Amino acid sequence: MSQAQPSVSILCTGGAGYIGSHTVVALQEAGFRPVILDNFRNSNRVVLDRLERILGSRPLLEEGDVGDAAFVEDVLRRHRPAGVIHFAGDKAVGESVAQPLKYFENNLGGAISLLKAMEAVYLGAGGDKGALVPRFRGDDGGGAGDVAVGPTLVFSSSATVYGDPATVPITEDFPRSHTNPYGHTKLVIEDMLQAVAKAQPAWRIGILRYFNPVGAHPSGLIGEDPSGIPNNLMPYVTQVAVGMRPYLNVFGSDYPTPDGTGVRDYIHVTDLAAGHVAAVRTLLARPENFTVNLGTGRGYTVLEVVRAFEQASGRKVAYQLVDRRPGDVAQCYADPSLAKRLLGWEAKHTLQDMCADAWRWQSANPQGYAG
Ligand code: WQD
Repeated sequence: MSQAQPSVSILCTGGAGYIGSHTVVALQEAGFRPVILDNFRNSNRVVLDRLERILGSRPLLEEGDVGDAAFVEDVLRRHRPAGVIHFAGDKAVGESVAQPLKYFENNLGGAISLLKAMEAVYLGAGGDKGALVPRFRGDDGGGAGDVAVGPTLVFSSSATVYGDPATVPITEDFPRSHTNPYGHTKLVIEDMLQAVAKAQPAWRIGILRYFNPVGAHPSGLIGEDPSGIPNNLMPYVTQVAVGMRPYLNVFGSDYPTPDGTGVRDYIHVTDLAAGHVAAVRTLLARPENFTVNLGTGRGYTVLEVVRAFEQASGRKVAYQLVDRRPGDVAQCYADPSLAKRLLGWEAKHTLQDMCADAWRWQSANPQGYAG
């Protein structure tokens, strides 16, 4: 693939969040100019300072809500991004069950607002506007000159759209279902994107289904910073190791798995970030839309993660075996071969890397960014 020109901007909604901030690093290191759009409702402003320390320059920031279509349209017109990566949204499964309207309003509303703003700016909706078409030097073999690119969007989806899979590993053609409002919003947004692409073929859309992102940038300057009690396994483990919590509750030890605990496909967040760069490059170079799994293809049980973390950190992680968590599935891991074939991407980091990097982040930031 050709190197991106530094003038090629990529807008990252929710770019100050966990996945977003790591993708901002990967984009800039790949030669793009990332622009962060964030309202800091689910993220911390300190992330910008940390990114400046990692990158040597402060990423561009547009502070506001992706649900404000007029604001988003103004940002698009001023920055002329060649593509948009949509991270912004609420993502706590349990909270979505307790507050479904918050999730439908924020996640669906945000996606609709972004799509309408992109349509207005890149396709001149209403016919009376000149189409604002960014130019990107494609690498489609022709090599010569720029190619005109229509609205280009990468969407942060989730393996949660697979519900409780009948078998593993999971391929992209598996049936989708939802077991909670959060997962339902991801599924509906995927359907919206498919309908938009069918109605207006100028759209270039990549849907990325994340499995279980964990770990942190090797600098330890950015990482996962959940608010309150962590829902997810790895941040809970790191908080036990750093002494913030007395022990881990292992949800279920009677699953049909090697040691009875849940199996998941943990993927290093920097591998996930690289997957976004590969997705953007692929969309800008070729007009074929895609939906791919971003996972390692390898599942680990909860107790295997605990043991790997203890080895990587040198810290003991106390735990107790308790009942299953409602809504959990026994096993969920990816067949990532389509992403390798279409994007030329595959995960490279090991579980040990994930644990070591997660520990470096947590031990350097015991209170997260607030500290
Ligand atoms: C992993 C394993 C738990 C916590 C969720 C969302 C998904 C995505 C990733 C956003 C399971 C066990 C966990 C704990 C435990 N999020 N566990 N004790 O549930 O696979 O996926 O996060 O996109 O949409 O559904 O991840 O980290 O919560 O759980 O034993 O305190 O760890 O039972 O087996 P999950 P998780």
